[in-house]
Amino acid sequence: MKQFISVTDVADINALIKKAMVCKAEPLKYQQLGAGKRIGLLFLNPSLRTRLSTQVAARNLGMEAIVFNVDKEGWALEFEEGAIMSGNTVEHIKDAGPVLGQYFDILCIRTFPSLKNREDDYSEMFIHQFIKYAGVPVISLESATLHPLQSLTDLLTISEQLGIKPLNRKPKIVLTWAPHIKPLPQCVANSFAEWVNAWGEADFVITHPQDYELSEQFTKGATITQDQDAALAGADFVYVKNWSTYTDYGKVYENDPAWMLTEEKMKNTNQAKVMHCLPVRRNVELSDEILDGSHSLVTRQAGNRVWAAQAVLHEILTSK
Ligand code: CP
Repeated sequence: MKQFISVTDVADINALIKKAMVCKAEPLKYQQLGAGKRIGLLFLNPSLRTRLSTQVAARNLGMEAIVFNVDKEGWALEFEEGAIMSGNTVEHIKDAGPVLGQYFDILCIRTFPSLKNREDDYSEMFIHQFIKYAGVPVISLESATLHPLQSLTDLLTISEQLGIKPLNRKPKIVLTWAPHIKPLPQCVANSFAEWVNAWGEADFVITHPQDYELSEQFTKGATITQDQDAALAGADFVYVKNWSTYTDYGKVYENDPAWMLTEEKMKNTNQAKVMHCLPVRRNVELSDEILDGSHSLVTRQAGNRVWAAQAVLHEILTSK
């Protein structure tokens, strides 16, 4: 694996999940693999889980991890080719990228979308410019449109549950939109949809209010409905996430609390497990009763971020 920015960088999803499970069972099994290697974690946006889990994963593989909060501590970067830099940006990625490539063996980047210009965000210019100029493998820590480390974690978490309680059919996985007070990126939902579709081992349903369609490039293959109750019927896993509008880009059209998942709504499921990537706004996006209940997987899911990151780092370190 030369880079990890989407599911298309993964040759075999189940093999990667299995590798993550091996790392979880024996975290220090490969602690010599990264000896003498350095990983740079560049954050243009905030993080708790991604930052810490990737550092722990790198340490488990013997790597030195250095975090750089570019947004707070670095020069403002310019990404446009041929830009006349007479504005606020101080350093071009054409200059910064190769320098970072000299310091690190692997570069990881978090760069959120603006939610102002869909074409720009969906071009993924920032992460592509890092890949172009750094000259070392790049891992997405969440980009403008995708969050692949989260999605690998999500499939690892689902696979673990299916290992504990096997089904004699494909699991029904429901991605449900949830209310939120501000416009959020589509990254987690896009990425989850892309990974579940590529995995191909689920009956996959997406439910959201009118006007909240995600890009078809990620959802194609899923059943899509605006009837949340119908979607939840018989579900084995319910993935809860807010996202802002894609068509009229980055807007909040809907904030109806009726879309928030409750125990009452869960009665129609197959005692579904509930997932969320965190952070979550309690009693806006998800109710206390669900988050604190026995069906919530959110803490296990966040814990699994370490093993997903470790599996990806292992793949990159061992690829020729
Ligand atoms: N789920 C997730 O990416 O969490 P952080 O934003 O805290 O890293």
